[in-house]
Amino acid sequence: MSSTIAWIAAAPDGPAAAAASPPAGTAAAMSLPEGQWGDPGDLALPLSDRGLLLGDGLFETVLLEEGRLQLLADHLERWRTSAALLGMAPPPPRSLILALVAEAGTRSGIRTGALRLNWSRGSGGRGLDLPAPAEAPAAHRFWLQLSATPPRFDAVTTWISRQERRNAASLLSRCKSFAYTAQIQARREAHAAGADDALLLSSNGDLCCGSAANLLVRHQGRWTTPPLASGCLPGVMRGRALRLGRAREGLLEPSALAGCDGAVLINSLGCRPIHRCDGNALPPIPSGQTEQLWRGLLEGATP
Ligand SMILES: Cc1ncc(COP(=O)(O)O)c(C=O)c1O
Repeated sequence: MSSTIAWIAAAPDGPAAAAASPPAGTAAAMSLPEGQWGDPGDLALPLSDRGLLLGDGLFETVLLEEGRLQLLADHLERWRTSAALLGMAPPPPRSLILALVAEAGTRSGIRTGALRLNWSRGSGGRGLDLPAPAEAPAAHRFWLQLSATPPRFDAVTTWISRQERRNAASLLSRCKSFAYTAQIQARREAHAAGADDALLLSSNGDLCCGSAANLLVRHQGRWTTPPLASGCLPGVMRGRALRLGRAREGLLEPSALAGCDGAVLINSLGCRPIHRCDGNALPPIPSGQTEQLWRGLLEGATP
């Protein structure tokens, strides 16, 4: 039994393997494609992988709770849409993921944790140019990692990054790409300023999101989240909040935090109240309340 386990396809595993997979719901019956299980620190990627070299890939982080993957359909939809936007081959299907996660659970004993699904454009060529179209789909590479980590609802202090902004115009802002270096730098900046995490402004100057979460700000009991046009990620939990009528989209100037009656950072792995921003106290929200908000979205409960 271990606290983290990974699997990587033995050979690049493109849509041909995906097409060979049985339909959803038959996971238990399917035989797994060839691959290697192990500790993520012990498994290797080829040094030519574009995800490794260039951040040319897409990932999803899905919550596993009591053995059940939460909102998998929404995550797979974003994965597929993002792959199409970036001209990548379609990522592996639900049936394969369910089978691998069942096997990962058996091997590791993990019942609650974070599943990271990785889809790299794979190996090919030197430099930025894409491999020849005929080779591209076959070169894609898939691996996953399951780590025992519970959802988080504890308070967080934030700092608005002065160095990094979310690009409102970039296609990449709509995708969960491997490239998180801007967010890493923003978080370093936040730590240097004595805060736990960073908030990012949009390139248009309004508030956008956290380094790894969407932002919800409450005024007079109503939650607002920045529009996708700000460059924020179309987060699964953000999407649920909008669809269930628990939040609405709206521009939030940086000053919007000063007059709010609460703010949270929300993603698939939790919902954390922001208790300070740039050294200024925000109205505290008890973590029990943010968990209630988040679970309501997960379960689809109406207000
Ligand atoms: C930059 C960013 N925004 C938003 C989110 C929230 O997305 P989701 O609700 O799909 O987890 C994440 C999640 O990792 C993220 O990295």
